[in-house]
Amino acid sequence: MTCVEFTVNGQKCTVNNILHRDTSLSAYIRYSLGLPGTKAMCRQGVCGACIVNVSARRHISGEIETFSVNSCLVLVFSCHGWDITTVESIGSRGLGYSEFQKRIAAFHGTQCGFCTPGWVMQMQSLLPKNLKMIELENSFGSNTCRCTGYRSIFDTIKSFAVDASPELCQQVDDIEELATCIKDRTRICNRKCSETNSESDWTVINADPEAVITVHFGDKIFFKVFREDQIFQLFNSYGVDNYLFIDGNTGKAVINEIEYPAVLIDISAVSSLKQYHFDQNLVLGANISLEECLEIFKNTAATMDDFKYLEEFAKHLDLVAQMPVRNIGSLAGNLMLKHIKPSYRSDVFLLFEAVGATVTIRGAGNLLVSLSLPEFLKYNMKGKLILNFELPPQGPKHIIRSYKIMPRSQNALAIVNAAFNIKMNPSTSVIEKATIVYGNISAKFIHATQTEKYLKGKNVFSNSILQGAISRLNTELVPVEDPAEPTPAIRKKLAIGLFYKFILSIAPISILKPIYKSGGTLLTRPLSSGKQDFQTDSSLYPLNQPVQKLEAIIQSSGEARYVNDIPPLPKEVFGAFVLSTVHNGDVDVVDAESALAIPDVIAVYTAKDIPGVNSFTFPGFQLQKEDEEVLADTNIKYYGQPVAIVVATSEELATSVARKVKVTYKNVTNVTPVLTINKAKLDKTRVISGDTIEPKGRGTNVRKVIKGVFEVGAQYHYYLEPLSCVTIPVDNGFEVHDVTQWMDLTQGAVSRFLNISESDVHVKVRRLGGGFGGKISRNVQVACASALVAKTLDRPCRFILPLDTNLTIAGRRLPCQCEYEVGVDNNGKIQYLNASLTEDDGFSHNENVLSYVVSSFANCYNADYFTVKSFAVTTDLPSNTFARAPGTLEGIASIENIMEHIAVAVNKDPTEVRLANMVQEENDLPTLINTLKTSAEYERRLREIKIFNKNNRWKKKSIQISVMLFPVIYYGNYTAMVSIYRGDGSVTVTTGGIEMGQGVNTKAAQVCAYELGIPLEKVTVIPNYSFVAANNIFSGSSIVSESVCFSIIKACNTLKERLKPLKDQMNNPTWEELIKKAGDDLVDLTATYMMTDKEPELQGYNVFAVTILEVELDVLTGKFQISRADILEDVGLSANPKIDVGQVEGAFVQGLSYFTSEKLIFDKTTGQLLTNNALSYEVYLAKDIPVDFRVNLRYNSNNPKGVLGSKAVGEMGICSSHGIIYALRQCIRESRKDSGYDANQWFEMDLPLTTESILKALNVKNSELILY
Ligand SMILES: Cc1cc2nc3c(=O)[nH]c(=O)nc-3n(C[C@H](O)[C@H](O)[C@H](O)COP(=O)(O)OP(=O)(O)OC[C@H]3O[C@@H](n4cnc5c(N)ncnc54)[C@H](O)[C@@H]3O)c2cc1C
Ligand code: FES
Ligand code: FES
Repeated sequence: MTCVEFTVNGQKCTVNNILHRDTSLSAYIRYSLGLPGTKAMCRQGVCGACIVNVSARRHISGEIETFSVNSCLVLVFSCHGWDITTVESIGSRGLGYSEFQKRIAAFHGTQCGFCTPGWVMQMQSLLPKNLKMIELENSFGSNTCRCTGYRSIFDTIKSFAVDASPELCQQVDDIEELATCIKDRTRICNRKCSETNSESDWTVINADPEAVITVHFGDKIFFKVFREDQIFQLFNSYGVDNYLFIDGNTGKAVINEIEYPAVLIDISAVSSLKQYHFDQNLVLGANISLEECLEIFKNTAATMDDFKYLEEFAKHLDLVAQMPVRNIGSLAGNLMLKHIKPSYRSDVFLLFEAVGATVTIRGAGNLLVSLSLPEFLKYNMKGKLILNFELPPQGPKHIIRSYKIMPRSQNALAIVNAAFNIKMNPSTSVIEKATIVYGNISAKFIHATQTEKYLKGKNVFSNSILQGAISRLNTELVPVEDPAEPTPAIRKKLAIGLFYKFILSIAPISILKPIYKSGGTLLTRPLSSGKQDFQTDSSLYPLNQPVQKLEAIIQSSGEARYVNDIPPLPKEVFGAFVLSTVHNGDVDVVDAESALAIPDVIAVYTAKDIPGVNSFTFPGFQLQKEDEEVLADTNIKYYGQPVAIVVATSEELATSVARKVKVTYKNVTNVTPVLTINKAKLDKTRVISGDTIEPKGRGTNVRKVIKGVFEVGAQYHYYLEPLSCVTIPVDNGFEVHDVTQWMDLTQGAVSRFLNISESDVHVKVRRLGGGFGGKISRNVQVACASALVAKTLDRPCRFILPLDTNLTIAGRRLPCQCEYEVGVDNNGKIQYLNASLTEDDGFSHNENVLSYVVSSFANCYNADYFTVKSFAVTTDLPSNTFARAPGTLEGIASIENIMEHIAVAVNKDPTEVRLANMVQEENDLPTLINTLKTSAEYERRLREIKIFNKNNRWKKKSIQISVMLFPVIYYGNYTAMVSIYRGDGSVTVTTGGIEMGQGVNTKAAQVCAYELGIPLEKVTVIPNYSFVAANNIFSGSSIVSESVCFSIIKACNTLKERLKPLKDQMNNPTWEELIKKAGDDLVDLTATYMMTDKEPELQGYNVFAVTILEVELDVLTGKFQISRADILEDVGLSANPKIDVGQVEGAFVQGLSYFTSEKLIFDKTTGQLLTNNALSYEVYLAKDIPVDFRVNLRYNSNNPKGVLGSKAVGEMGICSSHGIIYALRQCIRESRKDSGYDANQWFEMDLPLTTESILKALNVKNSELILY
């Protein structure tokens, strides 16, 4: 056979060498089949946007099973014999929607919706398993959502559990009743849930198991084999110098070094590698998938005493990658990653080595060797095949535990992993043999051999022996420095902490001091729960009605279109940026010739090909001060700046060629890049000053002077939809489909860049897959690049940034440093405060947000005695940009840090200190604090926590109240156009407000329906067009929904005025009668209005929120759990309380993630971003959010200064999240007290509060690690 065959949604697909050999399943589905429901973002098996389902015969069970895979990782040529399902056939307008699609929409589990098809597909694969709530929650480490904060998605998922809670069942019942009242959904409910995917409908292709499939691609070749001997025959024919086995093909996502050579041999169908059996050992076929192995482990542990340890291993495997990766990723593939790169922290290696597993390898001539794992690492694997692994039984004397400490709850590589296997005489507790294995120490390090030797023959349950072991570990653990990893000192601390935890976990209770006991366990997360509390007034409906988002159901079915979902276009090409590998100097030569010699590479462009101004910014537009080059030519500003564009016929080819284009540079100086605020401040030419606050006076009762520095870092937006643009030449101009929050800038900048008139650039935006400020200006670089290609080649151009490029070039939240000196009285009341705030703008001062930092710095406090100066510095990094609550978050976090510092210094309750400093007038916070304290039972919990902390040395808890005042101002202009159609009285609305998940379209429709007095079903919101909302400001700063609604009200008023004379003439007409008559009478039924910040009705106002957070910290590992969060926010009279709850939750979780997990690390000498992928820049996943998550919207609130009584809501949640810093600080402080540090001493804590930062701040001494 010279092709592979499979089905997609029941349709047979035959794929041969017309496609590129290395085409992923995801690219094939999207570009060859034109099925855009399956999305892609990270292409690394992390975000889950690309998940599809596969039905195929599994070798272990011999059954056809349905399982999920990441289509970005699977090669399309590896799909032979599979039946693949994409979201399109789960449910749709035509088929009817599936139950899960309906529920995730109704539970408000979608915002931007870009991630939603991935959740749908993962859930679809789990439905037949009849899982419990806790099991379902654990099965979604595979999916990332940046918008919702996960709570609503978790609720949807759990509503399908066999043990779903009565509350969730009630919600499901309520939804089913509700579901008939809004358009689209009428149809949904009348339909049956999609049944086309039941297993009985699968038509698995009967592949001939004997014949090797061979597909030639010029000098490359793809083989699919079915038997071991076929592999060795291929070695005989093609040699062993240039081949790679493919099983799950997931390894490439974690080890960049793996390249596809000339010969690919797919071994995934070799059934002898997928079987297991027992002799005295458990013999596991080399290529059993990790997920199947997990099941084997669970079943074996349950039935065979000598393999009980496999229960521990199963738990550990559950933390490896995530389910879709484990469904196809194999044991041998995992072990080979460690063989290829010995520093790889393989969890499989760790576990297998802890029990002395062996590996059997087959070489030429059917030669078999059996090796220990350390021997295997040194063995030359060229032309060899791993056949199996043998795991020995471990008798009753063995005690085995393993640990994996990760940067987040799931789907992350270990910071340190450890496995301990101790053979102990049960009556004497004397250790007969100790095996101690660690990962991520160094490439060479496997066993703590000195400690193993030391422990032999000893009873470790004595303080002195334990300390002896710890002291040996301290000597022999020498972690290597890796700039992208926690420091060696911290990794060592963690490794020792894990050993101590192990000993505590096995020590007899009788000898353990009770306060040490809880150190023996890790934090275990109970089932999550959530509550949302708000009022609604049904007399106002559809205003104030918590209706489902208009687009929710089409988002869940993948029918909602995003930029890259525009169907494949005739003659279209793909662009990709070539990034600089220096941080200064000039481009000398771009080797286009070599790139162009590759088949299907069409063009290479550099700055010299640009017809207009080489800039994607537009000085003169709001907050745009200077030009920023689309392609750097001379004077490169940062490592990774785009210097050229490669154009090819496929996205994957353009991307891979762009990564390899050779560029030489000249005038490169040897100076190290300036990457930090501190370094930039040393060079006066890099510093500018900004807004200030001048004091009105100074108090005289200074009892304490406090000084400090607070610093927060950058934050990448991590929108699921990457920066993308499709530009289509149309007539004399261009249709530009850009992922933009600011159509006006895209239009202006593209015309200036191409040197064409603005009227020839038509920008259209249907929706964004998340924005968070990152698509206000940075996207325009991609739009310009795409337009350049489209213009030059006169062909449509699609330009989609891969995650590493996106992370490298697209700017981030501005890092901010606050230096402060504050004089206070004995109650912590501020007598004077001097603060200097400095923001890192990146290489340009565009989008400098100093004024927001300064205006929010006072938060809710009396600023009469404040002296505040602000500065911005430039660094050798991409220009930073707006990110949710830009500047405001940094300002509020800075002053809140000062309040905490004061509270520690004067030894007072931080809330009392805050109250003492608050403004008295127009400040609702004292009331809100009291309300929330009561509903959250703050005092009781505080008492319990105090007792807990006294009784537990190695676990600490805290409960923390935090406050926020967000100053809202209206600025800019937003157009709305409302058109009524005379045939049936239906209405369309189009506006200048871009829908990016915040629900502006739904609120717009609700307000329009309310104003016109018609049912919501009559109103449709259509995409944004630059020719309707010309010259509009960007959609940002949370004011979009309100501003757009304001324009809609005005436009509706115009229409009502036009209709009034007719209505007065008619006898109480229905809406349809009135509109028909108006149409007949040629009344203009279209009205537009452009709101501006000069509207007298619109005045600034404040949004208030209080949060109470409870946190538990495991002192030995630095891991923490947010046990409970209660938020009370004033959103005024909400247009849609469910949307507002979603905004609060999503933004809050984004903030928690920012303050505790998201970290950008650069190479200090080159300036290269090292954390440029989804496994190194870690955002929160679902199991990281508060276990108990409660959001309350303030009762009886009506904002007279806002639109229809509402308050803005988009950014405020993130500004409520800073409490996590202080909740963790309090836990750390409790532990430090036990360590003997001064409780009133302020200690440094680096943000984000990662495991590294927490362990550093805890600073537990090894001598404290004792038993009694
Ligand atoms: C998102 C993500 C998260 C991950 N997290 C973790 C983690 O937390 N911990 C961890 O340990 N790992 C982790 N991994 C790694 C994962 O376990 C491996 O990618 C997977 O097990 C590799 O199996 P595969 O079948 O896909 O191998 P492939 O990618 O198909 O192959 C990998 C290598 O193995 C070789 N190979 C495969 N089978 C054989 C054989 N029988 N004989 C000889 N050579 C063979 C191939 O030639 C190739 O060199 C993660 C991976 C991803 C994508
Ligand atoms: S695109 Fe496949 S997991 Fe992210
Ligand atoms: S809704 Fe999940 S990423 Fe936007």
